[in-house]
Amino acid sequence: MKKIDSTVENYPFESNDFRHYFQNLYRDRGIKAFYQFLNRPLRRSFSRSLIKKYAPVGLGLEVGVGERTIAPTDRTILSDGFAEHGVGQSIARAYFKGDDTPFEDETLSFVLSEHVLEHIPNPIKSLKEWIRILKVGGKLIIFLPHKERTNDCHRSVTSLEHLISDYEKDVSINDDTHFQDWWENVVEKGLMPEHYKHIPKDELISTGSVHHHVWTEKEIIELFEYLGLKVLFYDPKVYDRRDSFAVIAEKTS
Ligand SMILES: C[S@@+](CC[C@H](N)C(=O)[O-])C[C@H]1O[C@@H](n2cnc3c(N)ncnc32)[C@H](O)[C@@H]1O
Ligand SMILES: [Zn+2]
Repeated sequence: MKKIDSTVENYPFESNDFRHYFQNLYRDRGIKAFYQFLNRPLRRSFSRSLIKKYAPVGLGLEVGVGERTIAPTDRTILSDGFAEHGVGQSIARAYFKGDDTPFEDETLSFVLSEHVLEHIPNPIKSLKEWIRILKVGGKLIIFLPHKERTNDCHRSVTSLEHLISDYEKDVSINDDTHFQDWWENVVEKGLMPEHYKHIPKDELISTGSVHHHVWTEKEIIELFEYLGLKVLFYDPKVYDRRDSFAVIAEKTS
């Protein structure tokens, strides 16, 4: 387990972020990866431009980087909660959970996270952590699967009241109600992701593979405003990641 210095000066930043994007794309798709890589929209140029616009300078953290990144890697700490995620090897260079990061207060200019908050059992706890480590003026850049365009389409959206209750109860990864909801409304409807089918139930939970909660941009905007953030941008259907919506917010005080 690699830990990193909370001053971040010792972190090894890398200049070529496309290598990180490409390496697992190649493993998944073989020769087709070259086409996807060279095809601008599939290379996530729109999403990258959002990061460039809202976080043009300063150090950032990506939480739950998984297999590939669109972060500017010459100034982003790539982290993941699990050394090996159920769907493959993470490219993370540092490992810690999203609700317990090794940084001082107000260290970072942005926190980026794509398709991760739904894997976290207690989202408010993690979001408070991400807000704590952001500088005033820092940006939270979040991409999430949209309820209607993923395997969660039969589930109900998660309300703000539910998330507050999870936070008050200090809900952990072992929460049974989240897993039950996922099992009944995803697995029993025949929508379990193919690459999860060989993974034992315990491991699905312990590797953070299950979607604990389900959202659209509306609930996330409400949640961010509840947490005192100023929402700067949202997109219900991200042009170069069509199952996703994005919300970008600023820490103002
Ligand atoms: C669906 S993958 C997304 C990976 C990548 N960000 C992407 O967009 O393709 C979810 C990632 O979140 C990570 N993860 C799950 N729970 C986490 C937690 N509590 N803290 C940090 N990372 C977590 C997993 O290990 C996995 O890499
Ligand atoms: Zn919950």
